Amino acid sequence: MNSFPYPFKGDVYRYSNNSTLLKVPKSIDITDTYVDEIKLKRDLLTKYPKRCFQSQSHSIKGQWEILELIIDHLTTYYPTEFLIDKYGDDWVFRNKILDEKHHFTFGDVDTLPCEPLDFIGRHVQEDLLFMMQRDGDLFLDAGQLCFPANWSLAFNLGMNFKEIHHPIPGFKEESLDNRINNFLLRLEAGNPWGRKNWSLMAGSRLDTSLETFDQWGQDRKKVTKENAGDVVHLRVEDQKLFRLPGSNGILFTIHTHLISLDEFTTKREWLVQFYQILQELPEYITDYKGLSLFKKQVLDYLKERHQEIR
Ligand code: HEM
Repeated sequence: MNSFPYPFKGDVYRYSNNSTLLKVPKSIDITDTYVDEIKLKRDLLTKYPKRCFQSQSHSIKGQWEILELIIDHLTTYYPTEFLIDKYGDDWVFRNKILDEKHHFTFGDVDTLPCEPLDFIGRHVQEDLLFMMQRDGDLFLDAGQLCFPANWSLAFNLGMNFKEIHHPIPGFKEESLDNRINNFLLRLEAGNPWGRKNWSLMAGSRLDTSLETFDQWGQDRKKVTKENAGDVVHLRVEDQKLFRLPGSNGILFTIHTHLISLDEFTTKREWLVQFYQILQELPEYITDYKGLSLFKKQVLDYLKERHQEIR
C-alpha cells in the first residue's frame, strides 16, 4: 500500500493543471500485478482489437520512436527483467518475466506481429496514447487503451486536445482547456511531466470502457454503507507526458491503480483528507465523475470508519 499513488493535496479538489516535473524520467512502472494485468490486456486486445488499439497510418514512424523509448526505459530501470541486443537495426528484445524473446528489424513493421505501439504496449501495464503535433495543435492519432475510465479510443481517435476534453464541465468556461493545451505545446524533450487523476468505482474492474458500460455501470446502484468498504475502489491514474524529439509528438502513458476503501482508509491521514474532499466536492465534478449514485453511501461509510479509528 505504501507504493499506492496517493493523488490528493489539500482538503479541496478542483480541476486544474496539476502536472509536475517528474523526478525520475521513467514512462512505465512494473508492479506486483504485472503478470495478471498483461494477461488481461492481451486477452482484451485479442477479443476486442478495435476497442483496444487504434492508429492512423501516418503515426507509424512515431510509434517506432515510442517503442524505442519504452524499451530503453524497461531495460534501464528493470535490467534483470528486460534486455535488448542491437545489431544495427536487427534487435532482440527479451522479456524475462514472461519468458519471451522477440527478433525484429527496427523500422520494418512486417517483422513485428502487430504495429509497434501495439507490440510494446503488450509488455507494459500502462495504456499508451500518442498525440501528434501539427498546425500548432495536438491530435490523438494512435493509442493502445485497455483500461479506460469510461471513454472510447475508437470515438476519440483523430480528435485534438480540446475536443477530447470537451465533456468536462468548466474546462472551456474557465479556459483550462486553452491553458493546458498551451502547456502541452510547450512541453520539451528530456523534461517529462506527470499528474494523477482519480475517481471512485463500484467494483475493481480495470476495463471500464464506454463500450462495456452496460456491464459495470449498474453496479453503482448496489453500493450500501455496509458494503462500500469492500466494493468501492479508489481508482488512480498515474499519467505521464513525454515529448518525443524525433516526431515532435507526445507520448501520454496511463498506469491505473485500484485500492478498496477498506484498505485505503487504514491510513488515518488518507481517510481524514478524503472524507473532507468528498464532502466538499461540488455537484458538477461529482456528476461528471459518475459518483452521484453512491456518494452518500460512501460518505456514510467514511464517517463511520472515521469514528471507529478515532
Ligand atoms: C495529452 C494527452 C491527454 C489525453 C489523450 C487525455 C484524455 C482524456 C480523456 C479521454 C478524458 C475523458 C473525457 C471524457 O469524458 O470523454 C480526460 C479527462 C480529463 N483530463 Fe485529460 N488527457 C490528456 C492530458 C491531460 C492533461 C495534461 C490534463 C491536465 C493537466 C488533463 C486533465 C483532464 C481532466 C481534469 C479530466 C477529467 C477527469 C475526471 O474528472 O475524472 N488531461 N482526458
